[in-house]
Amino acid sequence: MPDLTARAWECLNRARVTLNGRTLGVRASVDDTREKLNYDHCFVRDFAMCAPAFLLHGESGVVRDFLLTTIRMQAHTRRLRTFEPREGILPASFRPVPGESGTVLDADYGEESIARVTPIDSVFWWMITLRAYTVASGDTELANREECQEGIRRILRLVLEGSFEMFPTLLVPEGSFMIDRRMGVYGHPLEVQALFFMALRAADELLVGGDGLREAARERLRNLRMHVARFYWIDKDGLARLREETPDQFGEGVVNIYNVFPESIPDWVDDWLPDGAGYLAGNVGAGRIDFRFFAQGNLLAVTADLADDSEAHSLMNLYEARWRTLVGEAPLRLVYPALEGEAWRVVTGADTKNGPWQYHNGGSWPCLLWAFAPAAVAAGRMELLKRAVETAEERLDREDWPEYYDGRNEPRPGNRARSFQSWSMGGYLYARACLEDPAAADLYRWAERVTPEEATRT
Ligand code: GLC
Repeated sequence: MPDLTARAWECLNRARVTLNGRTLGVRASVDDTREKLNYDHCFVRDFAMCAPAFLLHGESGVVRDFLLTTIRMQAHTRRLRTFEPREGILPASFRPVPGESGTVLDADYGEESIARVTPIDSVFWWMITLRAYTVASGDTELANREECQEGIRRILRLVLEGSFEMFPTLLVPEGSFMIDRRMGVYGHPLEVQALFFMALRAADELLVGGDGLREAARERLRNLRMHVARFYWIDKDGLARLREETPDQFGEGVVNIYNVFPESIPDWVDDWLPDGAGYLAGNVGAGRIDFRFFAQGNLLAVTADLADDSEAHSLMNLYEARWRTLVGEAPLRLVYPALEGEAWRVVTGADTKNGPWQYHNGGSWPCLLWAFAPAAVAAGRMELLKRAVETAEERLDREDWPEYYDGRNEPRPGNRARSFQSWSMGGYLYARACLEDPAAADLYRWAERVTPEEATRT
């Protein structure tokens, strides 16, 4: 087999976005056979998944330049104006364009994106990447710079203040993260909560002083931990308890807080979920548990310790027992199961790119190796990581590093997938690095635990 690491680097290098001779990031993909749309932009989330490859490859300066470039794009508008990004928001993506006096960077905060979706997750990816940079390089000067400290404070104010709700989870609109199309992921999607948790941990570590913001972040961390453990975790015992719950309870001290009807438990869950296994639900809110399995949120929860040790083991048991479904021949499945038939039509708005077992709706994404690797290390399941990496090596390069795969059982490069997709290479490179040296997972792990706070009010 050719040296795939060298080959992945060769392809990733072609995607570099440069300005004045310095690399600031990578384009989402380098594929001249398809319409570019915004795939020639550097996406914050896509680069965040490539960042560890650069950090572990002696190129921490690239990550540093990316972090400074993006924080300088943070929205500063103090007045509340419509059609302008709120203070603290970071763009989804940017690209160099010719300006009046030389090249300038043009950023998209969602105002140009398909369906005008807001990139809630960019602020979290930035914070997580700043922390990974600090751990890998040992350079604390960057995080301590006033512009980064002010960036952290703005982000914390944006996400900790201002909500109609009293819950520790974050309420977000449809398509505001990696799944940036209509997929029924509005509300309190797990992936956003896991990124939020991880970013708060990073902020707690990196913030110097902070006008009570650090205390607010810590309290939120403890409450978020308690809330997710209590309401998102699903296993056989939890399902049995749910089936006994009575609806329409009012007042304090009730059990069925969210008024979930047992009849909403889908048929597939019982057969699919083995004993000794479990996972975190995709979304929880009023009258709603989304029972679909979302890989990224589950894996990040294990890595950042939003899930405890026993949950981490149960999740990896699920991966082992349902390997064919969740990993298969093209690691890894983004969401399981797919929305089909009438549910697909109603929930996605008949989105043909998100047809059943395609793209976000049950497709498989190599970039998820980025999240699988530290989670497998955290749960002590290196053999599963080995298996996933070796499976990816069978085909990723041969098939030109597709953005995603379509198909329920026999995956094929996605119908509308780009080739030479940067985060497919970045995810692979990081997973390989973790396999060779599990200490590489420390970029996204913490030695201490967050102790959940007992709910004072429900
Ligand atoms: C698609 C994906 C999004 C990604 C972008 C660039 O819009 O849904 O998650 O960031 O492409 O790769």
